[in-house]
Amino acid sequence: MCGIVGAVGKVKNFPKFILEGLASLDYRGYDSAGASFLKENHEFACYKVVGTVDDLKKIVPNKIDALSSIGHTRWATHGHPSINNAHPIASMNGLFNIVHNGVIENYRSLKKKLYEKSYTIKGETDTEIVANVLEYIYLKNPHSVLVAIERLMKILKGSYALAILFKDEPTKLYFAKKDSPLILAESENASFLASDPLPLIKYSQKFIDVEDGEYGYLTKNEIRLFINGKEVEKRYTERNIEFLNKDLGGYSDYMLKEIEETPQVISRLLIKYFDGHNFIFDENLLKELRNAEHVTFLACGTSYHAAIVGERYFRLLGKRSDTYIASEWAYEPIFSNNNQIFILISQSGETADLIKCQKIINNRGMVNIAITNTIASTLDREATFTLYLEAGLEVAVASTKAFSAQVTLLALLVSSLFNNTSVIESLHSLNNVLLSIINRKEEIEDIANEIYKFNLIFFIGRGSDYIAAKEASLKMKEITYIHSEAFPGGELKHGPIALVDNKTALFAFDSDTKTDLAIRNNAKEVETRRGHIYIISIKELYKDGDAFNVNFVSPNLSVIPMVYVSQYLAYYVAKKKKVNIDKPRNLAKSVTVE
Ligand code: M6R
Repeated sequence: MCGIVGAVGKVKNFPKFILEGLASLDYRGYDSAGASFLKENHEFACYKVVGTVDDLKKIVPNKIDALSSIGHTRWATHGHPSINNAHPIASMNGLFNIVHNGVIENYRSLKKKLYEKSYTIKGETDTEIVANVLEYIYLKNPHSVLVAIERLMKILKGSYALAILFKDEPTKLYFAKKDSPLILAESENASFLASDPLPLIKYSQKFIDVEDGEYGYLTKNEIRLFINGKEVEKRYTERNIEFLNKDLGGYSDYMLKEIEETPQVISRLLIKYFDGHNFIFDENLLKELRNAEHVTFLACGTSYHAAIVGERYFRLLGKRSDTYIASEWAYEPIFSNNNQIFILISQSGETADLIKCQKIINNRGMVNIAITNTIASTLDREATFTLYLEAGLEVAVASTKAFSAQVTLLALLVSSLFNNTSVIESLHSLNNVLLSIINRKEEIEDIANEIYKFNLIFFIGRGSDYIAAKEASLKMKEITYIHSEAFPGGELKHGPIALVDNKTALFAFDSDTKTDLAIRNNAKEVETRRGHIYIISIKELYKDGDAFNVNFVSPNLSVIPMVYVSQYLAYYVAKKKKVNIDKPRNLAKSVTVE
């Protein structure tokens, strides 16, 4: 994954731009951080730390007279977090400093060739190989860095967004891109690049999304883009700056803020996709969906759980529908017939596993609908149609408001297919239910204070409550590091119950009259084996001893309040354990590597 930034020209304060930029990108990884400044005298000043951008701040001087600069925040793929593996990475003879986001698949064979040419390699990263191959190519024909980059791109296999400083040209910042996001921006007397617009919005409103295969350079007053040796025209895109607000707004953590923004997000979706009388969806999109015989959902993580809800909605409509984890489908794509349509769900719109699926679908010329929170993301740009989640920036690694937005949008979309406006009323009452949960969050905190010492947390449910259980369990393990699993209630007795002891907590979601008795029996079976049970029920099914209850919402939407309770639960357990809630270990927000 990783985040990269770069700037060239008259930047008022280079360290400030780089450090603030990296801080806004640290959702892309926070194993190490680094920055390199190229000065007028052709010298690099390079600073690196194992740790976060906050650690980097401690060693970068407040002011550096530079002409250009690059920075990097890393999520380690090749090589453990260390200074040698931290970017920027210098080529052996010190001609180049580069930062990289992506994975070079053929780096081992390239490394072997570099050894044969007597290159010495200090670290274990694929990026160091890129820096040295570039230097090698350039030194063989030291006329043009641009030509060397063009040749380098023909050799590299894999994904990369590269920002490159060349010692002899401190007024230029080179770049290259394939399968990893890269955005350029220009302002008066300075040009910038970054993995996403966040670091750039303070400096420019004019963005260029670099396309795969493009490379070029920035100077203080020009941006030049090339593909296969030919110059291409610049294409400007817009970004909704308001949605890029990273203000914590008085909250101690983004996760809590984002959980509590959910009702606003649902209201925004209601306004965007319903005008008071009619649904507002692209007619062509609806036509494609109506005609489709088979709807296939693809997604990862939390978005995958929202996708399963979507699959359920279509099945209830009588349409053939299925869901696959993107990283699985990408290696075994399943096509049924030409009337198959794909719905690809991703908060970030940059998840590599999903983008890989989209490429396969697009290569077959098939229709795909992206549901994403990120305008102009790769998923958005490459989709046949896009529906936006309107959730605003989601910073915490644990996805919360985006999940509720995904399910809400799917409910609106499916309802619009047969003009069932009753969903609007249901969504309004859902919002009231969420607000009442916010008011009672201390009760959830009390439960968290009881369970935070347990070794194992199970979540069970049946039907849509099982989907909620899956998402609840992901949230719990992701930010609290407590082992957690989700099961359909009936499956416990087929094996998993063997794990239960007096350090096990079991949460049972109970929102469905049909399965109420069965799920309670499943919970009882765990209690009999000394497990601690917590039943989260809807008010209509509430019984004495239940841990928490929520007001009734339409059965097709009950997954949202159930998951909502579990988001608070995971949040408070993590808080009690005093771990970093917004940046859990080993993870990154945007997973742009396979
Ligand atoms: O940006 P995406 O929705 O494509 O991300 C998919 C997953 O990486 C993401 O949902 C992940 O599972 C979250 N950390 C879960 O909270």
